[in-house]
Amino acid sequence: MPQPRKLHDEFFLRAKAEGYAARSAYKLLEIQEKRRILKRGDLVLDLGCFPGSWLQVASELVNPSGMGGGGRVLGIDLQRVEIDLPGNVATLVADAFKTDAKTLLAAIEETKRDRFDVILSDMAPNTSGHGDDFLSARLCDRVLDLCPALLRPGGNVLMKVLEGEPTPEVIKRTKNMFREAGTTKPKASRDVSREIFIWGKGYEPARALVTPKPAGSRVAQPPPPSAAWPDRPAKTPPRGSR
Ligand SMILES: C[S@@+](CC[C@H](N)C(=O)[O-])C[C@H]1O[C@@H](n2cnc3c(N)ncnc32)[C@H](O)[C@@H]1O
Repeated sequence: MPQPRKLHDEFFLRAKAEGYAARSAYKLLEIQEKRRILKRGDLVLDLGCFPGSWLQVASELVNPSGMGGGGRVLGIDLQRVEIDLPGNVATLVADAFKTDAKTLLAAIEETKRDRFDVILSDMAPNTSGHGDDFLSARLCDRVLDLCPALLRPGGNVLMKVLEGEPTPEVIKRTKNMFREAGTTKPKASRDVSREIFIWGKGYEPARALVTPKPAGSRVAQPPPPSAAWPDRPAKTPPRGSR
């Protein structure tokens, strides 16, 4: 007989005990352990950042000292992130399809950098059981479409995809744009889930230019949302400072 799904599994309980906003934190931590996607001092874009556990993990990895001058993380999501975040993290409520590169670069203006070192995407479509793999592949295509304007040469990408018919194409496209690329399924990812993660290291813009884009990936640009880096300390001490 099939076993009922455990709602509060090991990773859920660990996340609660260790102060992470979600169990997803352990997916990024495990992938980081194997693939070294992020490093100290990096400027990171986290697409689909709500409720914020990847923001927490990335913030720690890029700026372990917790002092100024280290790395920064900009997160965007359709939903507002409600948790208290460290000072090196800013968020925008925005749709990755409707937000242009200019808006995202404007949000990092004060860092005096013109590209991100790493783009993370844990974006997931609203799953209906029909065509989720295509919706998920479309989200990955959006990430890859943003690379020429947003990712520095040599930069890294990590993105979630729900496996299905279009997945090999997305993987092929990533391999064409990065020096090395592959897929991984961390232990914290539920066995029943079709999600895997595609990683690419060493972005090669010249190759990206000749990599064909899938049809229909262009979107209209809405007015830019306003972004601000936090100028006041979080209400409760962020993770790592406790
Ligand atoms: C699995 S959650 C991300 C979890 C997050 N990485 C964490 O660790 O807390 C997926 C998120 O993708 C967001 N998302 C889906 N489509 C999006 C889009 N077009 N633009 C921005 N965010 C999107 C959803 O709102 C949702 O919050």
